[in-house]
Amino acid sequence: MPLPEPALADLQTPPGIPDAEFREICSLVQQRLGIELRPGKEALVTLRLAEPMRRGGFTSFGRYMEHVKRDPEGPAMLEFIDSLTTNHTNFLREANHFEFWQQQVLLPLRHRPELQVWCAASSSGEEPYTMAMHAVEALGESAYRQVRIIATDISHAILEQARRGVYSAQRLAPLPEAWCRRYFLRGEGQWQGYFRVKPELSRMVEFRRLNLIESLPLMGPFPAIFCRNVMIYFNPETRSLVVNQMRTRLEPGGYLFVGHAESLNGLNVQLDYVQPSVYRLAGPG
Ligand SMILES: C[S@@+](CC[C@H](N)C(=O)[O-])C[C@H]1O[C@@H](n2cnc3c(N)ncnc32)[C@H](O)[C@@H]1O
Repeated sequence: MPLPEPALADLQTPPGIPDAEFREICSLVQQRLGIELRPGKEALVTLRLAEPMRRGGFTSFGRYMEHVKRDPEGPAMLEFIDSLTTNHTNFLREANHFEFWQQQVLLPLRHRPELQVWCAASSSGEEPYTMAMHAVEALGESAYRQVRIIATDISHAILEQARRGVYSAQRLAPLPEAWCRRYFLRGEGQWQGYFRVKPELSRMVEFRRLNLIESLPLMGPFPAIFCRNVMIYFNPETRSLVVNQMRTRLEPGGYLFVGHAESLNGLNVQLDYVQPSVYRLAGPG
């Protein structure tokens, strides 16, 4: 008896992942990104890898993984990493941090000629651009020259998107109307409904690729580091490693902001608790 015709959707999605290949993917993701993928995520992984597998003409996960692993820094590996990162973010996310950033970091340090801070795991840019807009609101026009935000992420694709700084009207919805006019250019013609970050704001943010689980490059020390909503995907050992590395890039009295759902409870990291999701390196300031 002939097999039934596969539905169209089945043709676009590879078949379910065999256990051995799923374990191999989990271990590679753990090794390269520090992210813990647990059993139960097979469908998500299948969905995320469907496009790179289709583009490369792979119908088996085994063959695809051989191809990915052949060159540890090659385009297939980078695409694999891009596909498996979760980039959810938005403007003004966890808004109380930006008030704290204005009141406890920017205003007390406004006398400094240069204020350089780090936004780690910055995704598509909404977070560092929100920091930049708050800096201009707090310090006025001088912030355009004074404040530098190093924004980093592991994903090449998302960094490209962040550098472009183009967002739909829907993405801008959390921002006050006046800020949209002040900090964005309205698209016309085929760009109707889209907004681009104004050049003076985008010059405040420098996007770089950086993997938080590898040794950090020489940078800082910073009076503030935002590292929000990424450690939630790490296991406690990786979280300790990442926070201890970041601690070495904080200046005495510098603040570390983590996501609202994240906490450094139980980690041996020698940072003082300030308030939920805000920590500080002891010292003057
Ligand atoms: C959920 S987003 C959080 C974005 C933003 N920080 C926020 O709170 O809205 C997590 C980001 O972490 C990045 N990421 C995941 N693993 C990483 C790693 N090992 N090093 C650096 N960035 C990583 C992902 O590419 C993704 O853009």
